[in-house]
Amino acid sequence: MSEETAPYGSGPASGTTAGPVKRVRTHHLREMKERGEKITMLTAYDMYTAATFDEAGIELLLVGDSASNNVLGNETSLPITVDELLPLTRAVARSVKRAMVVGDLPFGSYQASPEQGYLTAVRFMKEAGAHCVKLEGGAEMAPVIERCTRGGIPVMAHIGFTPQSEHTLGGYRVQGRGDTAERVLRDARAVQDAGAFAVVMEMVPGDVAAQVTGELSIPTIGIGAGSGCDGQVLVWQDAFGLRTGRMARFVKQYADVHAVLLDAARAYADDVRGGTFPGPEHTF
Ligand code: KIV
Repeated sequence: MSEETAPYGSGPASGTTAGPVKRVRTHHLREMKERGEKITMLTAYDMYTAATFDEAGIELLLVGDSASNNVLGNETSLPITVDELLPLTRAVARSVKRAMVVGDLPFGSYQASPEQGYLTAVRFMKEAGAHCVKLEGGAEMAPVIERCTRGGIPVMAHIGFTPQSEHTLGGYRVQGRGDTAERVLRDARAVQDAGAFAVVMEMVPGDVAAQVTGELSIPTIGIGAGSGCDGQVLVWQDAFGLRTGRMARFVKQYADVHAVLLDAARAYADDVRGGTFPGPEHTF
């Protein structure tokens, strides 16, 4: 069986067993939705986390513009540029065998026109090796999604709360409550009709997200959108506890990486200061 005709399964992602590793494709995600299998997505911004999450069988790795405030030290996702995000995307794409790598288009790199969006998306595919791109916005972004899709680039849309628009949305707020639910539904239909292969829904009430998920044929990936979505995404530094401090309500913390690193760094410092590292076994 060739790599592409082999049935999609949940076997080990990296080469720990014999046989080719099958790349996750957009049609696999659609088939997972049809079978009612949940889709997993995490952010990744470097080679070791990418390889580890790939080995864990995560289907989608997002090199998010959240690198801005999780890697580059900015307060929000707004300042990151295409030139800053491309090398991180390239590192992730080089480090996975199975996961689909999603390049995230930064603020200002696609909103001006469909042509601008297409040319930016091409850079993520050609220069960084992304397998698809993500962009924020609903009905108003349909022409950009159409242009990219027509030009051979799969697009994941992102609706509900869209962090790049935090200043027009009045801060980090749930979108789609009450009368505004119809807007989320309209945006979801518009991005699907424009050709998006999946849609992220961020901070949307669970019942609205479940309604969207039931109506769309493309997979929905939730972040703060309840369990009714076809899949879930979290920023790994939040989920695995590298970041400390107040977390959004939708984050579940699975590990305390900060504590592990802190203990390790302190133990190392103690050894160096006490003269017990390096020992004879570390010395040539
Ligand atoms: O950039 C990012 O990490 C995202 C997720 C929050 C979906 O867009």
